[in-house]
Amino acid sequence: MSTLHQENAPSERTLSSLTAQYAERWEARSSVRTRPRKTIDFTQSGFFFPEDKQPLLLAKEVRDLGRSAKDDILVQSFYKYLHDIVNLEIKEIVSACSKLLHGDLPVTFTEETRLNTYSVMIDEYYHVYIAQDMILQLRQRYPHLSDIDYALPDSRRAVGEVRAKLDPRYHDVFEILANCCFETTLVRELVEFFNSPGVHPSIKYYVNDHMNDESRHYAFFFDLMTYLWREIPEDYREAIGTHLAEFVTLYLSVESEKQFNVELLATLIGDREQARTSVESLYAGFEITPDVPIVKNVLRALGNAGMLAHPAVRDSFARIGWTV
Ligand SMILES: [Fe+2]
Ligand SMILES: [Fe+2]
Repeated sequence: MSTLHQENAPSERTLSSLTAQYAERWEARSSVRTRPRKTIDFTQSGFFFPEDKQPLLLAKEVRDLGRSAKDDILVQSFYKYLHDIVNLEIKEIVSACSKLLHGDLPVTFTEETRLNTYSVMIDEYYHVYIAQDMILQLRQRYPHLSDIDYALPDSRRAVGEVRAKLDPRYHDVFEILANCCFETTLVRELVEFFNSPGVHPSIKYYVNDHMNDESRHYAFFFDLMTYLWREIPEDYREAIGTHLAEFVTLYLSVESEKQFNVELLATLIGDREQARTSVESLYAGFEITPDVPIVKNVLRALGNAGMLAHPAVRDSFARIGWTV
């Protein structure tokens, strides 16, 4: 899909996911229309979160604790993942869709685009329903696990911080564009990383099912981003574009993940200060740079949507030392 997009300049591309073709695909293929309930089959074995995506397992304190601590960490990491999905999908994506439908925007959308937007909202609510259903199944199975306080997700913090710097008249358009970025990069990454070995089959099934919908969302939000960027008045592009690089680095940061790992390790070893020191050393040297694969995906999506061609956007990246 992204290769197809790469071949065409934004101005020449037909934005087919903003037309009735999209709703036809949704009617035939969406998870809510076509798939059964997700029950976790506890007779099968496997981890509830990919081992290679949880750096905490590398900490010495954790290795000393043995297998049951490892299982607990992976279940807790899956809870955090589900919590982030719920937050992103309801608080960000559904909210951006509402703004598209009901906001006072300087652009108009066709009735077909509005219909497609309703379908995305249904999908995201359904994904949240599934996430909650899975949380309840796991809680019954692992009643001993304690609740962990989750820090504000990085996606939410990024929207909040950049929004605060913009004149209120740009807020709604910015939030819609921000969510176009999330749906063309972040969600995909979150879903794809479960393709690691050792993950429990029920979780793989759940994640692939989510991906089935998110691939279609990708196409919708990519076309929406292209259309919106092209149609908004120049002062909107200027104002929002000026903060784009900052927004990208904020939402791709791993602050909330680090914070969560500190809390989680603290519950296991009973020493928050040691937990903090240990987590800091696990993440030492990690930096958001243009060579990180997800950053490349973001830049590709922004480029294909025509956004990187704007001087304000280019300047914003130049200010953080990136050539785009
Ligand atoms: Fe979703
Ligand atoms: Fe989505």
